[in-house]
Amino acid sequence: MTLLDELSALLSAAFAQAGTDAAYGRVKRADRPDLAQFQCNGALAAAKATKQNPRALAGSVVEHLDQAAFADAAIAGPGFINLTLKDDWLSAQIGARAWKRPAPERIVIDYGGPNVAKPLHVGHLRAAIIGESLKRIARAVGDDVTGDAHLGDWGLQMGQLISELELRQPDLIYFDPSAEGPFPSDPPISLKDLEEMYPAASAACKADKDRADLARRATKALQDGRSGYRALWRHFVDLSIAAMKKDYADLGVDFDLWKGESDADPLIPEIGDDLTSRGLLEHSDGAEIIRVAREDDKKEVPPIIFRNSEGAVGYHATDIATIVDRIRTMAPDRMLYVVDARQRLHFEQVFRAVDRAGLFEESRLEHLWFGTMNGKDGKPFKTREGGTLKLRDFIDMVTDKARERLVENGLAEGYGDEETASIARMVGVAALKFADLSNPRTSDYVFDIDRFTSFEGKTGPYLLYARARIRSVLAKADQAGAGGAGDIVVAAPEERDLALALALFGDAVRDAYDKRLPHILCEHAFGLAQSFSKFYAACRVADEADNAVRASRIGLVEATGEQLDAIFDMLGIEAPDRM
Ligand code: ARG
Repeated sequence: MTLLDELSALLSAAFAQAGTDAAYGRVKRADRPDLAQFQCNGALAAAKATKQNPRALAGSVVEHLDQAAFADAAIAGPGFINLTLKDDWLSAQIGARAWKRPAPERIVIDYGGPNVAKPLHVGHLRAAIIGESLKRIARAVGDDVTGDAHLGDWGLQMGQLISELELRQPDLIYFDPSAEGPFPSDPPISLKDLEEMYPAASAACKADKDRADLARRATKALQDGRSGYRALWRHFVDLSIAAMKKDYADLGVDFDLWKGESDADPLIPEIGDDLTSRGLLEHSDGAEIIRVAREDDKKEVPPIIFRNSEGAVGYHATDIATIVDRIRTMAPDRMLYVVDARQRLHFEQVFRAVDRAGLFEESRLEHLWFGTMNGKDGKPFKTREGGTLKLRDFIDMVTDKARERLVENGLAEGYGDEETASIARMVGVAALKFADLSNPRTSDYVFDIDRFTSFEGKTGPYLLYARARIRSVLAKADQAGAGGAGDIVVAAPEERDLALALALFGDAVRDAYDKRLPHILCEHAFGLAQSFSKFYAACRVADEADNAVRASRIGLVEATGEQLDAIFDMLGIEAPDRM
């Protein structure tokens, strides 16, 4: 149970004894923290339902309230119950409140979604950061989670690339239609060539219809299994994955699986037959489509093109087949997709189609879409040169800025080049990730590197600094022979506030998990760090003379450090031990 659950249970019992439905006992944080810590507004609705005077009913609830937990339960206004905990009861809550799911599930999270050879855009960055955090939160509360990058390796861009190389170097063995392999194990081009080739190919296809047809035919031949194309494709994919893995690792993003759209391809014929036998696949203008519109639709939901008129499959079909692949290989209870808001229609269509086909229930498929990270011009963030984002450049940019900030603040001085560089990278990446995660997932936000890297305010660097400071406080206490942590006994107001923040951890975790909103954890972490600052400014720790008080405070500091560590872990943010 979380703290709010426990308090709600106490209030519910009192409501039941006062003769009303226990469900009215829901407790929340107080709207006016200056008056109380918590409040319960249930007496108003309960009085209405039972035709009583709300203040009188509230009075009766308070009379039946278990006295052990509450120092004060006061009736306010029309019948609110304002609640304040007893210090000893509150003190006993700290550390006991990590929330776990009562019935954990097996979950697949599809996030990241990078494409072979195509540069990442900001949508991919958010997908990676938010997806990583949701994966870690789910894991922390007990779910069995598999994160899959779902590499874009099967679309038209592959045909564009293959035809581009064929035009440039037609004599390569891969382009000999009669070649069966084995083909060379070293790639014919470098990653750099690949990165240069994609924009060129894509622009050429846009400008010239014949060139585009060439790409389409190459895509089809690849999908049909032409050996040379497959071999070349494998090189492209391998080159790309190796580079991406490095970049994602620097961003603290780690996929359990690097499966791609292509992995689902072998299942397509069989799925097509199955859909046909269920009467779901219809022919329309030479293509095979699945209708997914519903009568009560408020907007138009167009049919899915399962196979186009040339027999090639696209993004919808690979997503349907990927769901089938996941059912077979992992038997998940639920599948989550952390993908850009611009793909809402796509997932709506795919989810409806697999539900219609009886493959997987729509209610167990969630598209956790997110808003855009914009530049100061209000448009999706671009580099200064106006290009799309390269993850590597982006990480370098925030790292440089973090280094400046460290110097400005006189931090990480005299640690040696290697440690300073590693601290700067962690601070930069934390700035970026925390900014992304602390903005509600479904909102757009503006990328503001100066604000994000500041050591003041609701930022990653501020939290990293708080954690480093906690470690240094504990190290100093240890050196001073201050003794270890003891029973926590709250007395000073700043201790009480910190204890309250600590005790609400479980609620924050559950809320973030249930709503799939990591920013709730960010808010909690920020509140906790602020409470810690105030506590540390007001209360002596290592040099407190009273042994019991000192031990209690060391306990509070330790608990804060442990909780911040747990939160950083759930956010996927790496923190330096000192700064
Ligand atoms: N590769 C896709 C893109 O760049 C994202 C993939 C998201 N996942 C999925 N199962 N469709 O837009």
